[in-house]
This record gives sequence, structure tokens and C-alpha cells, in this order.
Amino acid sequence: MSTSSPARSRVTPQSLLQKKGRGEPVAMVTAYDHPSAVAADRAGVDVILVGDSLGMVVLGYDDTLRVTMDDMLHHARAVARAGTRALRVGDMPFLSYQASVEEAIRNAGRFLSEGGMDAVKLEGGRERAGTVRAIVEAGIPVMGHIGLMPQSIRALGGYRAQGGTAAAARGLLEDALRLEAAGCFSVVLEAIPDRVATLVSKSLRIPTIGIGAGAGCDGQVLVFHDLLGLQDTLSPRFVKRYANLLEASQKALETYCREVAERRFPGPEHAYQMPDEEWNRLLADLEKNPLPRVPSTETVAW
Ligand code: KIV
Repeated sequence: MSTSSPARSRVTPQSLLQKKGRGEPVAMVTAYDHPSAVAADRAGVDVILVGDSLGMVVLGYDDTLRVTMDDMLHHARAVARAGTRALRVGDMPFLSYQASVEEAIRNAGRFLSEGGMDAVKLEGGRERAGTVRAIVEAGIPVMGHIGLMPQSIRALGGYRAQGGTAAAARGLLEDALRLEAAGCFSVVLEAIPDRVATLVSKSLRIPTIGIGAGAGCDGQVLVFHDLLGLQDTLSPRFVKRYANLLEASQKALETYCREVAERRFPGPEHAYQMPDEEWNRLLADLEKNPLPRVPSTETVAW
């Protein structure tokens, strides 16, 4: 009799909705390559987001504004090759959906047809409802994203929490309801007061996924590199570090450098062996028929 655990079925927009119905929180994390997707999936996350945050945590940009569709698709394909149980969501980068609805549909479609994603995410509230509806009508599941929208930092005046006044909170609730009506299967709430996020979550049928939005959301999302302590330049208040892999990696690399310098790596267990008989045959052959040195003019002159 097999002792392996039963295969868990793939996460879908519908199964996330059912999770909300059962009151079970959704765990989402970003991933940008094959090994991070494998780790996230083995850990049991429900949703893997190939976030445009890759611009900052992987590509070294100061913000997400320079991330392109080509960047996103390159990383989406690497994640898709992990063949995850988790739902895979591709984040639509800046200017891939704002200029026209047609372009938005085409770029959203590329995440599915070329990037191997199951769904897309885009930032914006009621002003994006028409775009969301058109993408959903093209058969592409859409996750919304309101509150702090990193692609709008120039307009928002920086990375600031949103929805802190009664009027702004009402605006967020209206945005969320409009996105749900337009067909979003879920919506990310970023950096908004926890009581506002709870109100929005209770008002929607679809699950809300919070980041800096408190415990009242239907799920949570964190950036892979923040969660694992793989970067130490930015540390927003809402990040919880579950490991310090930057320090652990640096220590391991220092040990490697030291062992190379001291000729302690590689050891015999890391080398391939040659039978004595073959070795002696080679030495005898070289002594009898030495190989001439090739004149250096015929090689690269270092
Ligand atoms: O790009 C990203 O990582 C995101 C999450 C913060 C939701 O949009």
C-alpha cells in the first residue's frame, strides 16, 4: 500500500472562492524562478505571484516602473516549468494594460499562452473596471490590486499607506466592489488600515489578499525575498522575516572562498577517479610521444 500522501488538486479561482466560503485563509507568495516556485509549492502555498516586484528584488531597480513584458514573461516561464499545484498569477507590468483595452487583453493573454500562467493581476480600482471586464471576457482570470499601488508611486507621492480617511476608505470599498462586479476572482489590498481591509473583506464575495492590511483579510501575501530575508535594503513595517537567508548565504559563500583559498575544497569525495592502469598508460605514452607546445601566436595571447 502506498504511504505517500494523496495528490492535492490544483488551486483554481473557484477553489479560492470556496476557501473563503469555508473561512480558510489563502496563503500567497511571490516567486520569480524555478527553485523559488518549487519551494513555495512544496510548502503548500495556494497562490504563486510572479510579481513585478522582481524589478526591485531580482533585477536591482529602485522601483517597478522599468519592468517590461519581456522581463515578466521570462520569469513567468521559469515559474511555470515548476508545474505547481498552486495557482500561478502573472503581474501585468507598468504600461502593459493602461494605454488601451486591446493592448491589455493581448498582454494578459501572453501571460497564459507564452508565460504558462493561470491568471493575471493588475493595479487599479474603478478606473480599471472596464479593462478588467474585457480581459475576463477574453477568458483570462484577473486578480485586482488596490490601496498602495507601486506602479502609481509618482502619483501617490511615494510608498504611503492608503485609505486613512473616511473618504479614502469609502473610495477603496467602492473600488473593491467595482472590481468584483467587473469579474475579478480576488483582490490584493496593500498598505491600508486593518479595519478598512476587514470591512472590504466582509463586503466582498471574492477573497481579499492582504499585504500590510491586517489579519481581517481572506488571505495574505508576502514578497519571497522579504519573507526569507534575502534582501536587507527595504523593510516595510508589514514584512515578517521567517529566515535570514542573506546572512546564511553570505556565511556559506565565505566558507567556500576560505576553503578554496586553503585548498580544502574540493576533497577526494568531490573528484572523479581514474584507474591506476590507465594513468600509468598515459604517463608512459606522454614520455614516449610528448605533445609539442602549440606556438602562442596560434592561440589567444593572454
Ligand atoms: O509585485 C508584487 O510583489 C506584488 C505584491 C506585493 C502583491 O504586487
